[in-house]
Amino acid sequence: MTSLKKFYKKIIKKKEIINFCRILLLESFRDIMPKIDNSLINDIRSRVDIVEVISNYVKLESRGKNYFGTCPFHDDHSPSMSVSKDKQIYTCFSCGATGNVFKFIQDFEHISFIEAVKQCADMCGIDLKISNTATDNYIKKHKELYDIYDTSQKFYQNNINSALGKNAKEYLYSRKITDEQIKKFDIGLSLNEQDMLTKLLIKKGFHEKDLIKSGLVNDGNNGLYDVYNNRIMFPLHDTNGYVIGYNGRAYQTGTTNKYVNSKETELFKKRDYLYNYHRAKQPARDKKQIIVMEGPMDVIRASSIGIDNVVATLGTSFSPSHANLIKRICSNVILCFDGDDAGLKGTKLAITELQNIGINPKIVRLPNNQDPDEYIKENGKEKFEQYILNAYNVMEFKEILLKQNINLNSALDMSKYVKSMIDEINKIDDDILKELTINKLCDETKINKEVILDKIKGKKAMEFAIPQKKLSSNKYEKSVEALLFYMLRSKEVIELYDKKITHIANDEYRHLGFQISAFYKQNGYIDIADFITSVNDDEETVKTVGKIVSLDLKENYTLQQIEDYLHNIREYNDVKKMDEYKIELSMSNNLDEKLALANKLIEYKLRSEEND
Ligand code: UTP
Ligand code: MN
Repeated sequence: MTSLKKFYKKIIKKKEIINFCRILLLESFRDIMPKIDNSLINDIRSRVDIVEVISNYVKLESRGKNYFGTCPFHDDHSPSMSVSKDKQIYTCFSCGATGNVFKFIQDFEHISFIEAVKQCADMCGIDLKISNTATDNYIKKHKELYDIYDTSQKFYQNNINSALGKNAKEYLYSRKITDEQIKKFDIGLSLNEQDMLTKLLIKKGFHEKDLIKSGLVNDGNNGLYDVYNNRIMFPLHDTNGYVIGYNGRAYQTGTTNKYVNSKETELFKKRDYLYNYHRAKQPARDKKQIIVMEGPMDVIRASSIGIDNVVATLGTSFSPSHANLIKRICSNVILCFDGDDAGLKGTKLAITELQNIGINPKIVRLPNNQDPDEYIKENGKEKFEQYILNAYNVMEFKEILLKQNINLNSALDMSKYVKSMIDEINKIDDDILKELTINKLCDETKINKEVILDKIKGKKAMEFAIPQKKLSSNKYEKSVEALLFYMLRSKEVIELYDKKITHIANDEYRHLGFQISAFYKQNGYIDIADFITSVNDDEETVKTVGKIVSLDLKENYTLQQIEDYLHNIREYNDVKKMDEYKIELSMSNNLDEKLALANKLIEYKLRSEEND
């Protein structure tokens, strides 16, 4: 086999393995989610009307058989989303968003699938009783740890309010933190003592091993002792508001390590954690905006000027979990990290992670290396709010970064800049933003627009906004698409697919065909909306369904038509296979191998003639 072919085969294998793992992963998640019977889920779906539900969120107008409205899942300027009463699904022909009623609620409200099912159940008067069982079980399982943190928190809070807390309070006051904020953020104090907390916890009957597990107690040569001494303690709460760790800040000169985070436990993992999440959730949903900062001091300062839709990453290592946690609250995200280099690095990382899950954040860069805490303290609420209001979009931010290191009078620098900008423009999804940025680049560089347009892949994106007629480029792809289109409507077509199709070259379509067939095998019928429920977590497949259902094809088909599609697909597969064999044949030096290949070629040739 040629090395190129080997490489190609490897890629296909890899993709399939990744797909397989993804399915396994989703299955394993299903296990820990509260279980509701599939048929009950489908029953609930059939009792609510998608048109009625979506009308609660988006104004819909009836046009022909379908309803149309502006799509809430991208920056839509004209009604691009169609809702089908017949099929009980929505599709946006501009951004491709697709789904059934559950998916709409899930994505619009940023809640879990189960929560969306629950909402629909409530609408039709079915009591699902699944509210918090998962959370309850989780808390029961880790009860000891939760209780340890709860006790420690009361202890630390008592300390700061006692005479022993005088210096710590003075320190906080000097940083313009008031008693009100100390209370609101449950700020506490660990004492200048060896083992006060340890003794208290033991007296309360907690087990030694749980104390050590909590990260608040260490085991040393002279027995157990407190991990935190003489630090201001910012409790870290989980998304439900339970304390699961601490961020301890030194407040007296001479202490090394400004901040000490609790060690990682089953409950606290820094990469999965956002400070202030439980308090910021509601204000952020109300404001439809969430601001991300680095540390507790920044969050507390923002709160002191009435900005409460703020979370913090405890540093600049922004992770995929952070992105997902934020997405659960709202997708209008403002990154406001420290103005220094570390903050810049964190900002870039956060942009990448957020864009990976479809969020385009806005960016604030504060001047003079300041962090939000310092900036607000020095300049006040109004000036800070101007920064939030005028936050850059990703494109503007990248433009500023690109310009920072170039000399606009040097032709070489200029050409580098234009090329980098074109790379960035090619990544923009939004047509209008794309056009505006192109125009700006032309103005600024005085380069002819034609020259720039020539280098932009944008035309493809424009076509996408027009209903997807041009999507299929050849007979084969059109046949696959049409086959999938009718498979989503008819079990007869699925059965023909099962009997006659062994391979579809395009990964995306092969996966969809496979999933439809699996759904039919499991349920004995096909319904687009229920099918979407079954692949709910598989975003790519749901998108592909959207693409397929928006094809401009007739609802009804003839058997002859289906036979033609099947024939075209098989013919394409055969021709492709034969081409591969021909190449191998010409490359091979081994007579036996040559003979075997020639035999296979003849086999295929005969088969394809039979097919005709
Ligand atoms: P910063 O160094 O910017 O701290 O680190 P800060 O928020 O400005 O704090 P102050 O104003 O000096 O009190 C940002 C965040 O990174 C985490 C902390 O959560 C901090 O708030 N961090 C920082 C650590 O976890 N460990 C460190 O050693 C430093
Ligand atoms: Mn800082």
